Amino acid sequence: MPEQITLITGSKEEVYESLLPQIEALMENESDLIACLGNVAAVLKNAFRHLWIGFYLVKSESELVLGPFQGSLACTRIKKGKGVCGTAWEKAATQIIPDVNNFPNHICCDVRSRSEIVVPLIKNGEVWGVLDVDSDELDRFDETDRKYLEKLCNEILSAKEYR
Ligand code: SME
Repeated sequence: MPEQITLITGSKEEVYESLLPQIEALMENESDLIACLGNVAAVLKNAFRHLWIGFYLVKSESELVLGPFQGSLACTRIKKGKGVCGTAWEKAATQIIPDVNNFPNHICCDVRSRSEIVVPLIKNGEVWGVLDVDSDELDRFDETDRKYLEKLCNEILSAKEYR
């Protein structure tokens, strides 16, 4: 495991391009899901200074439960289909919300949050959880975030036996 991550400055794409191989190396020899998710959240928070970033994990047929995260206190349980997270789970598809106040189904954990992206963690067609990222800027997330965060979420679960 590398002892440190090198953070570069540059475009969003350049930062992701630099970070993803480093995150892969970080996870390479660790099979514990929670340990990997904790470090992924820490690295992305430090690189992008997001308001909140973390994982919610599928713990039953109807509910997500809060997993490793970086940021303020957050709600611990989200029902399937509820909020941006529950919607991403139900649809098994990334949700990009440019203005959370215009998304009626949004669950507010922090009034400072203005925009959000939620990416499902999918393995063999099954959603295991979601990666949730909140920003205090409007319209902070775009197709570049979708591309790299989906790639990262695929890599987190691929070729690993976490359970
Ligand atoms: N806003 C999310 C809830 C989780 S918090 O943002 C940490 C949602 O609508 O599902």
